[in-house]
Amino acid sequence: MRTLIKNGLVITASDELNADVLIEGETVAAVAATGSSVAEGWSADTVLDAAGLYVIPGGVDAHTHMELPFGGTAASDTFETGSRAAAWGGTTTIVDFAVQSVGKSLREGLDTWHAKAEGQCAIDYAFHMILADVTDESLKEMDGLVDEGVTSFKLFMAYPGVFYSDDGKILRAMQRGAENGGLIMMHAENGIAIDVLVEQALAQGKTDPRYHGEVRKALLESEATYRAIQLARVAEAPLYVVHVSAAEAVAELTRARDLGLNVFGETCPQYLFCSTDDLAKPDFEGAKYVCSTPLRPVEHQEALWRALRGDDLSVISTDHCPFCFVGQKELGRGDFSKIPNGMPGVENRMDLLHQAVVDGHISRRRWIELACATPARMFGLYPKKGTIAPGADADIVLYDPQGSYTMSAATHHMNVDYSAYEGKTVAGHSKTVLSRGRVIIDGGQYLGQTGHGRFTPRSTCQYLT
Ligand code: URP
Ligand code: ZN
Ligand code: ZN
Repeated sequence: MRTLIKNGLVITASDELNADVLIEGETVAAVAATGSSVAEGWSADTVLDAAGLYVIPGGVDAHTHMELPFGGTAASDTFETGSRAAAWGGTTTIVDFAVQSVGKSLREGLDTWHAKAEGQCAIDYAFHMILADVTDESLKEMDGLVDEGVTSFKLFMAYPGVFYSDDGKILRAMQRGAENGGLIMMHAENGIAIDVLVEQALAQGKTDPRYHGEVRKALLESEATYRAIQLARVAEAPLYVVHVSAAEAVAELTRARDLGLNVFGETCPQYLFCSTDDLAKPDFEGAKYVCSTPLRPVEHQEALWRALRGDDLSVISTDHCPFCFVGQKELGRGDFSKIPNGMPGVENRMDLLHQAVVDGHISRRRWIELACATPARMFGLYPKKGTIAPGADADIVLYDPQGSYTMSAATHHMNVDYSAYEGKTVAGHSKTVLSRGRVIIDGGQYLGQTGHGRFTPRSTCQYLT
């Protein structure tokens, strides 16, 4: 089965060229300049005309939480609904977080996540592992997971009593990662200090969602980021800091990277397009924007964009963790600390970042680098994922840069009753989406299949110096 994509502008992290793409079966067979004798000689069973469109690698979203149990409820997207919504938004690979429960093994947690995802996904998927209980046994188990293609481990300096690890546990996990090649991903917020401020705020009657942002102070993000970096230096381990939102935390990453350390940072669209103004919306609407790290005052956004341009932040993931407003976010009416943490966005990322191109924040190639190529390299999926090149999986999006539309819960495909971007008009959208050579979205229709998506084992981080 051969598919030919003709006449488009092929954009990867490194190049932009007017080229045709030949797909054989599930992978890219060749790329050649449009009109060249090579391309003119190609024949195919299916020809897709990409005139006026960008031909880009499918998005790689390296941070999602489908069905995550949290705060007495669970994230509202299943692997089926969430992976389908990702496809609608031009994302063709997700890396979700399997969870170790306290007192349980990594094996048990990973098996549970495999059972949730297997046969359910519209697109390919992989797993990180959340280390909630660092013990001699779970440290040993890390080695086996790396061999199975689960090569990154998230630790939390926040959420005491749930996912929290103290500095000793973090150091031990980092040391093990340094030995077995596993990349430590850090939720960097000082959760012990935050819990004191939460208690004090509630005692003063400060119960609205906006206080979630006030107690989770930027300084407590930057302090934890600094501490995580120093622990990684002691362990001689690489470090990936997730969902960075504060300018002060970015400064710590910049300092580390200027020293040449293997320290990497990720941010998310909500920190670039939303702010504490959203958290302060009346009638409990601010609950829709409760996530951790929290949204920051709008001034922080410029520091994030600058770091994204200069590579002090290298990846944009969604941290997709949706909870419906009705019945889930509402659990925190009268006590902001009971609002389940997380925001939806797996469907919105590629379009918001294309909008950032239109707005002049990043270049087209940087868009692809931040959303496709670097996440694939960071988590050992490149060049199978994240680029368009011979041998790569044919995960390809025909992107209409003029396909303006308005984001809304009424039209999105995520299983959540609100959009964080309700009413926002963006310049473009994914017109046709291919996953391993198969058209799964075309012209406003879903043509994919539940279970088409496969678990994709990963190699270790491809950035280490
Ligand atoms: O608020 C968030 N980010 N929820 C998901 C869990 C996490 O910390 O990533
Ligand atoms: Zn986190
Ligand atoms: Zn997360």
